[in-house]
Amino acid sequence: MFRLGLKFLLPLVVLLALLAYALVPLTESLTLSWFHRDLDVRARTIGNTLQDSLSPLLLENSPSSLEKAGALLDKVTKDERLLAVAVCEGDFELKIRSALFPPEITCRYAGEPQGVANETGRTLELPGGDVRLTTVGNLFLVHDTSFIARRQRDAKTYVFLLFVAIGVVVSVVTMVVARWSLLGWVKSVRMLLSGAKGHVPLSFAMASQNREFLPIMKDLKSLVRDLEARRASAEEGIQHWTPKTLKNLLSEEFAEDEVIVVSNREPYIHKRNASGGIDVQFPASGLVTAVEPIVRACSGVWVAHGSGSADRDVVDARDRIAVPPGKPQYEIHRVWLTAEEELGYYYGFSNEGLWPLCHIAHTRPIFRTSDWETYRQVNEKFAHAVVKDAKTEDPVILVQDYHFALLPRLLRELLPNATIITFWHIPWPNAESFGICPWRNEIMEGLLGSSIVGFHTQLHCNNFLETVDRFLESRIDKENASISFQGHVTAIKPYPISIEWPPRWQAEAPSLFECRRKVFARHGFPEGHRVGIGVDRLDYTKGIIERLLSVERLFELHPQWLGKFTFVQIAAPSRSQLPSYRNFDAEVRETARRINEKFTGLQPEGSPPPLLLLVEHHEPQQVLEYYRASEVGFVTSLHDGMNLVAKEYVAARDDDTGVLILSMFAGASREMSEALIINPYNIDECGEALHHALTMPLLEQKERMRSMRSLVREFNVYRWAARMLMDAATVRRRNRLLKKTGTWNQNAKSFFSERATTPR
Ligand code: G6P
Repeated sequence: MFRLGLKFLLPLVVLLALLAYALVPLTESLTLSWFHRDLDVRARTIGNTLQDSLSPLLLENSPSSLEKAGALLDKVTKDERLLAVAVCEGDFELKIRSALFPPEITCRYAGEPQGVANETGRTLELPGGDVRLTTVGNLFLVHDTSFIARRQRDAKTYVFLLFVAIGVVVSVVTMVVARWSLLGWVKSVRMLLSGAKGHVPLSFAMASQNREFLPIMKDLKSLVRDLEARRASAEEGIQHWTPKTLKNLLSEEFAEDEVIVVSNREPYIHKRNASGGIDVQFPASGLVTAVEPIVRACSGVWVAHGSGSADRDVVDARDRIAVPPGKPQYEIHRVWLTAEEELGYYYGFSNEGLWPLCHIAHTRPIFRTSDWETYRQVNEKFAHAVVKDAKTEDPVILVQDYHFALLPRLLRELLPNATIITFWHIPWPNAESFGICPWRNEIMEGLLGSSIVGFHTQLHCNNFLETVDRFLESRIDKENASISFQGHVTAIKPYPISIEWPPRWQAEAPSLFECRRKVFARHGFPEGHRVGIGVDRLDYTKGIIERLLSVERLFELHPQWLGKFTFVQIAAPSRSQLPSYRNFDAEVRETARRINEKFTGLQPEGSPPPLLLLVEHHEPQQVLEYYRASEVGFVTSLHDGMNLVAKEYVAARDDDTGVLILSMFAGASREMSEALIINPYNIDECGEALHHALTMPLLEQKERMRSMRSLVREFNVYRWAARMLMDAATVRRRNRLLKKTGTWNQNAKSFFSERATTPR
């Protein structure tokens, strides 16, 4: 800004100086002629007045009258500007004069022609200074003009000061206007850029409201488009990300590098069944749903807690097992935890502390020092397990979720050159909410060992930045969303998670018609019955009670649906060792029972119940069948990082029919605006949304569904991973380079300003 100001001010100063240079002589000559004219007028006035008194004395012409006349002249010359007066007669003869008449001036001067037109006097240069000579009748007046020079000097100074003042005022006003305009311009550009990033088409129109910037905004718009297009082709040149394209990216970018994933939940759980055999379970976990296809594509190693009752029976001597069963593509490295460790780290600090802390679902977090201690120890245990898996000194490590907030820093200490990407799968609340955690600083410090910390949404990134800002001594670059803490830079970025596309089980899945037939037969639904579906872990953050109450409200508001509609709720038992989950389980069952009982007598005899609550684990193929059989998908999370059920439901509807009702408090609502977005706390609204969904014309359903499906197809989980891995690749390249030049810390920051991932 200062330099910009100088660029403008310098020419202004030069221009003003030139103007002053031209104007000062002009002012001088103008003022001089004004002064002369004034003097001449004054001389006439004095002369005329004097002559009245002088004439009788001169006529008398006696020595005494002449003496009196001389005294009169002396009196007149008391005026400081009138130097002398004389009376000249006949042939320029001096008759009388005042006492101080300059000897070098004679009456002859009175007869000489006048100087300048419009002036009656003339100026005479004398050694003691200029004088002005004026003749009025026979009076000859000599004026002292030294005051003119004085006044001209003053006038010159004032003119100069005036120009300086003009210069200063113009500069200040210009700088203020320029700064103000620049701010407006920057705001407009930002709006344009954020619109381009966030695919908000209105932004350009809004940015263009500043008419004066319209031409430049047009140029910018095309420049942004250009850059977007180039970025899209260079960074994401691939339209549809698949396991193959992700694999290609990995072999190009990470030829020699290994990818290690760490999470608490393992993707395949081996469980001993009632008949003594072993079953393999795919857990109900959004994290596993999303990350598993990525590890399959990367052929990496997945380090996770071996929690299944038969897990130990199937691993090799190094605690590893190749998965998926029957078609191995990668290895799970199982880490064993004692019952006490599981209690303190998983049930305690993770799920009674951090889980309710991060979800604003009005369940109070519980913090126990013993849980925290165990959490710390288990994080250390996992850090050593990861180091065991690392074959190189700089692996790419993908740390998953709130169970491992301390792991990134521990790993940074053990493997300083590792590229650590931590993804926080749950929301990050605002600073006040997070601030109640007694170990908030340790958690943030732990996470800041990462190269990149990812969240689902920009809002969660902002919350994290604010929390760090509030509690940690760090340097935050909000513009580039990075945090410098103890000399290490961590980027904070949104990577909205998704599901695999095409969905894994869909290719072999029966048609929608067949799925519907099977589900209808299983539950005895009559032909033409309408079905809605909800799929969740039995978790108090999912809004299951609110969902059931909404179904009750639907029947109250629109009783025509009694006997014609059933809402199926699949609820996978979860964390049932915890009282909060056990109580919630009981509350859900009781609510479903009460609602069904309430409407039993009101429905036609033999109708299916309004609610069908299935509290048991369902494998992905079974869940898919329900999605395909149900024309309404209902997601009512009270607070959710993303919610992949919403995306899974949409992916399952490959005939483009069906309606998704989606909570505004789930991250997915930021992307899936074609869903019916509801506030799950507003039961009336949710009841009406159900009615609206059940009566939505097929054409509208298809339009909405098609649009959501294309979004999930394009922004699938391979793209999610590719974005993170490409950022990781850039971090690696940059780190390697900077390490060579020895300027890692100073310059690391600039990397993030050069490269900003498009939030989606
Ligand atoms: C959420 C968490 C995951 C977790 C899943 C299931 O989605 O973000 O980390 O795996 O819930 O919970 P569980 O405790 O059964 O692993």
